[in-house]
Amino acid sequence: MKTTLSIIKADVGSYCGHQRCHAKLMEAANGVLKEAKESGVLIDYYIGRCGDDMDLVMTHDKGEGNEQVHKTAWNAFVSATEEAKKLKLYGAGQDLLSDAFSGNVKGMGPGCAEIEMEERKSEPVVCFLMDKTDPGAFNLPVYKMFADPFNTAGLVIDPNMRGGFKFEVYDIYENKRVILNTPEELYDLLALVGSTSKYVIKRVYPGPGNKVPEDEPAAAVSTDKLHQIAGEYVGKDDPVAIVRGQSGLPAVGEIVEPYSFPHLVAGWMRGSHVGPVYPCSMDKSDPTRFDGPPRIVALGFQLAEGNLVGPNDVFADPAFDRARRESLAAADYMRRHGPFQPHRLPPADMEYTSMPKVMEKLRERFKPVE
Ligand code: F6R
Ligand code: MG
Ligand code: MG
Repeated sequence: MKTTLSIIKADVGSYCGHQRCHAKLMEAANGVLKEAKESGVLIDYYIGRCGDDMDLVMTHDKGEGNEQVHKTAWNAFVSATEEAKKLKLYGAGQDLLSDAFSGNVKGMGPGCAEIEMEERKSEPVVCFLMDKTDPGAFNLPVYKMFADPFNTAGLVIDPNMRGGFKFEVYDIYENKRVILNTPEELYDLLALVGSTSKYVIKRVYPGPGNKVPEDEPAAAVSTDKLHQIAGEYVGKDDPVAIVRGQSGLPAVGEIVEPYSFPHLVAGWMRGSHVGPVYPCSMDKSDPTRFDGPPRIVALGFQLAEGNLVGPNDVFADPAFDRARRESLAAADYMRRHGPFQPHRLPPADMEYTSMPKVMEKLRERFKPVE
């Protein structure tokens, strides 16, 4: 039997403003997922959150993009939306962009990362949940995990990893993808994924010689762009990712090591600002200051015949206190730029916020320069 690990997430209402997913919403989702487990659609599940986003971590034997599993997640969000409306929570139902479910959550608002795998003798996985940022925020850390020997000692020391890793990169504007092999094509990879608003790492596969089969992803990232689906700004995408670890893949410590550096990401207030990522426990994931700074939570599990053992809330560890302090110092520095770049996003990215509406009234007043 192959196990599929699916994270499907959405913001269907929060308090106060865009800060925290309410416990009642998680309870409502739990009712739906519990039933799906009892009826055999799911093997197991865990309901997490990061800030205002609810993250359904689900296991099953049905493969990626399965209609029953996606419908279960959709129904959980619909049920949570009903609660959110009763409580008059902010943005109730905001990420459910369609009135009716059709086959798969793709293109309907919720974000999704999935991996189907042959469970190894022991299968450690880390589920990353983010709030107030977009999928490109994963480019730098995932690159480091799988391609940077200064981060991942295994690339140098573990013979299993000597064949490197293959990166599947999406061009999210052109809707195209390319696979690049590392270490051979490292510079080409960086040429692309350094442009975080256009190119995003979708999956990473083991290279030749790895114990994990070459066609089984070692990592998967949600790349759903809400503004492309809705045609206007409806909140940031707040991505999720799954990373498998150990025995020929990066160790769990190598998977979380990139977050010792609070790198700058796009998102934060009104999805329009550059700010440092803030690694934190689930309980500390409410984005408060200037609706941020952008949060990341890491939940570590072991899979046991599809059952989820855990989670370990990794960034609760004081070993990440220093990264948090650095993040707050970087937040202060960036905030002092107010509405100026590079704190505010460049004009091309502002096109996908509420800015064009503001610019509309100035348009006629622009005259040609003689
Ligand atoms: C960012 C985000 C928030 C809102 C902001 C304004 O992803 O969700 O920063 O953009 O709070 O929200 P509205 O326009 O709903 O008042
Ligand atoms: Mg919200
Ligand atoms: Mg959010």
